[in-house]
Amino acid sequence: MPSRAVLESGRLVSATLAEGRRLVARYERTVAECSIGADGVVRLRAALGNALAADASEAIGRDPWKPAPAEILRHGDGSPVDGDDGIRLRSGPVDLLLGARSFSLVVFFEGRRLVEMPGATFATGAASCRFSLSCSKRSRFFGFGEKAGSLDKRGQVLAMRTRDADLRHGDDPLYVSIPFFLAVAPSFGVVHSHAPARTESHGVLVDCFATSRFDVARSDAESVAVDLDAEALDLFVFPGPAPADVVRRFTALVGRGPLPPRWALGHHQSRWSYASERAVRSIAAKLRERSIPTDAIHLDIDYMDGFRVFTWNRRRFPDPATLVRDLRENGFRTVAIVDPGVKVDEEYATYRRGLARGAFCRRRDGSLYTLRVWPGETVLPDFQRADVRQWWAEEHDALLEPGIDGIWNDMNEPAGWAADLRFGKLLLPYRKQDTRELEQADPVAEGRSLPHEKVRNLYALQECRATRAALEAARPELRPFVLTRSGYAGIQRFAAVWTGDNASRWRDLGRSIPMLLNLSLSGVALCGADIGGFSMSCSAELYARWIQLGALYPFARTHSMWLGRRQDPTAFGARTEAVARAALSLRMRLLPYLYGLLREAELTGTPPWRPLFFEFPDDAASYDIEDQVMLGPSLLVAPVVEKGSERRSVYLPPGNWAAFEEGSLYEGGCRVDVAAPLEKLPLFVRTPAVLATQSVVQHTGERPAEPLVLDVYAPLERGAYEGRGASACTADVYEDDGETTAYRQGAWALTRVRCETAPATVRLDVEARRGAFAVAARPVRAVLRRAAEAAAVLCDGREIPLGSSPESGALWARPSGRDLELGFLCDGKALRLVVEWE
Ligand code: GLC
Repeated sequence: MPSRAVLESGRLVSATLAEGRRLVARYERTVAECSIGADGVVRLRAALGNALAADASEAIGRDPWKPAPAEILRHGDGSPVDGDDGIRLRSGPVDLLLGARSFSLVVFFEGRRLVEMPGATFATGAASCRFSLSCSKRSRFFGFGEKAGSLDKRGQVLAMRTRDADLRHGDDPLYVSIPFFLAVAPSFGVVHSHAPARTESHGVLVDCFATSRFDVARSDAESVAVDLDAEALDLFVFPGPAPADVVRRFTALVGRGPLPPRWALGHHQSRWSYASERAVRSIAAKLRERSIPTDAIHLDIDYMDGFRVFTWNRRRFPDPATLVRDLRENGFRTVAIVDPGVKVDEEYATYRRGLARGAFCRRRDGSLYTLRVWPGETVLPDFQRADVRQWWAEEHDALLEPGIDGIWNDMNEPAGWAADLRFGKLLLPYRKQDTRELEQADPVAEGRSLPHEKVRNLYALQECRATRAALEAARPELRPFVLTRSGYAGIQRFAAVWTGDNASRWRDLGRSIPMLLNLSLSGVALCGADIGGFSMSCSAELYARWIQLGALYPFARTHSMWLGRRQDPTAFGARTEAVARAALSLRMRLLPYLYGLLREAELTGTPPWRPLFFEFPDDAASYDIEDQVMLGPSLLVAPVVEKGSERRSVYLPPGNWAAFEEGSLYEGGCRVDVAAPLEKLPLFVRTPAVLATQSVVQHTGERPAEPLVLDVYAPLERGAYEGRGASACTADVYEDDGETTAYRQGAWALTRVRCETAPATVRLDVEARRGAFAVAARPVRAVLRRAAEAAAVLCDGREIPLGSSPESGALWARPSGRDLELGFLCDGKALRLVVEWE
């Protein structure tokens, strides 16, 4: 055993500004390097000794870190050291103060103290590093990737180590490790004597691929204590002030999820397993027959020959190419599962090829590392190596040649077990997995290896990178779809994430909300939980409530385990089927809105699923809401997550709200009690709002009868805006071809719709379309909720006769129940519609 000593930094010995950008501070026993990025992001690297190791972060493939020019602030006498305090570095709105007596760091943003690190200790021998970060007593904590439990993580101790786990409440860690958090110190209730109150947020990424632990203000209410099983510290601080600013800066660094193909946003139907071509054809046919909108069918492990990846069971799937083609003709895409474990089998080509290339991970003593997974004894590709990723990508031909559309990467924590007990199909794995001897390639020292535990949390990310590359190589013009169970910060660049093995329990339905919200804030915009629950058997009522919510998950997939009862929208009787049809039809109607949100996520990092406080950071009550979601800026989803419940209390943040479709108005800043029979998902619109919708389709490849319907919530009812003055909103309608990467070269179209309301008037300005994607001139229908009492409608100053209908020409307007419907031709030119009430 190496001897272990915990070391403090000692005094500052020297400080230099390298290349005018990086402050390198040498302490007696520690070296630290601080720099500030162009958008105010702070990076701190520190380690024992007097030199830092090569920058391992770049090995994970994001854009290299680019520090901005910075200056050391000096005193009148020219000295850089501020008394005993330390040395101060400035770049743009950020100031850093590095301690002189011992290593410490204070980060200031726009002159305010953002966060403080009073010091860090490093241990020799077994690698470990500890430090703490200050926070306010009021701070609330979000993010931390994929975590069970409450939305706010204050008071918890959370670990980061990718792990195959059952999703029990409070179980930690889980499959995904994203050592990032968002701290928000709300301003309400705070009296500032000189500065105006404002909500302050900041984010922190502890870029560590080994195990780390976060004591989130549990031991000390005013700090987050972190310890890492690593000898060096690499940390980023993201200033706010708003939560959205933090997420934007964080995702700019680790990368954002590229826009998925539109079909990935339809409903996916999965089962462990549809184990034969017949079973696949049968579920697909049933979904179409019963008009259950669905875009994809997933093939779980039984499509393979004895669970050997990149093979087909030819008895059950004699002709995959024809199957995939037929499904495609019927509007279904096919997604196939790929696990990393390669069966040890001399007769098996993938194993032999991998072995010949030395692609598999070894033990410290040089022998092959094996672990048990579905096929029995398997070996693990070392995805840290670029040549292994390249080889792995090539192996995908077996799936991509027959036309498989997307790949589902599972068991990639990596998961496996030490031994197993089999009774026919039943497998009882003995979970303990010993990775102590497992080695992987060192990302920075070519040809050298290091313990797997040092880079474990990167395993899935590197696998998904290879998977994505496989799809890109086979179909360079198409956007890939990859789904993963495990991942690390930045996983969204390569894959969507589902939250693993939940159960068909009400608690798991409810808990999917804070879990997906925190995952969303951690950069993973395209995420979802298994609809209906994976293990156990779902009931009709639970499935109905789950699909109502799940249809509005960013990624919506029904999936379940072979032991439980059949689980799909048609499996629970007519009433549940009708609920599922309505829920998935709503998803299809909202597709233009949802698609726009994913485009926004790609451009800004803002995810489609947002906790209420994200949209209302100055509203105290919003921070406590973890059973409601903002889907984009305009829709508030308040699902029923309790058995037998037919009503629910909904918290509406301050502002004006309308019930979706029905249009009745609510004043926010309070709770309302609403009826929610099984058929009803309580859904509210923050007014004014314009929602881009379309008519229902059975899959996203079908041309909607009406490709654009503007659902306008700007009520003109008598009294609706009395005393509230004017208000306005804008909505962007984003369009492209839905499947190729041409949008990245400018083949997109954006139509901005501005809506302004004032007492007795609503003005809709459809701005001239931007972008190079050609959209044919088309009739557009707008539905103005609760505006049936309109007295006059004008299009570019021309009056449209009220009571006219689509048959009377391109321009028409008529009351429809309490709403006003109007039609106009959208040819890409600007147009103004004015609706007046007397
Ligand atoms: C894992 C996955 C699950 C899958 C099963 C069989 O448990 O999480 O989704 O169905 O393996 O492949």
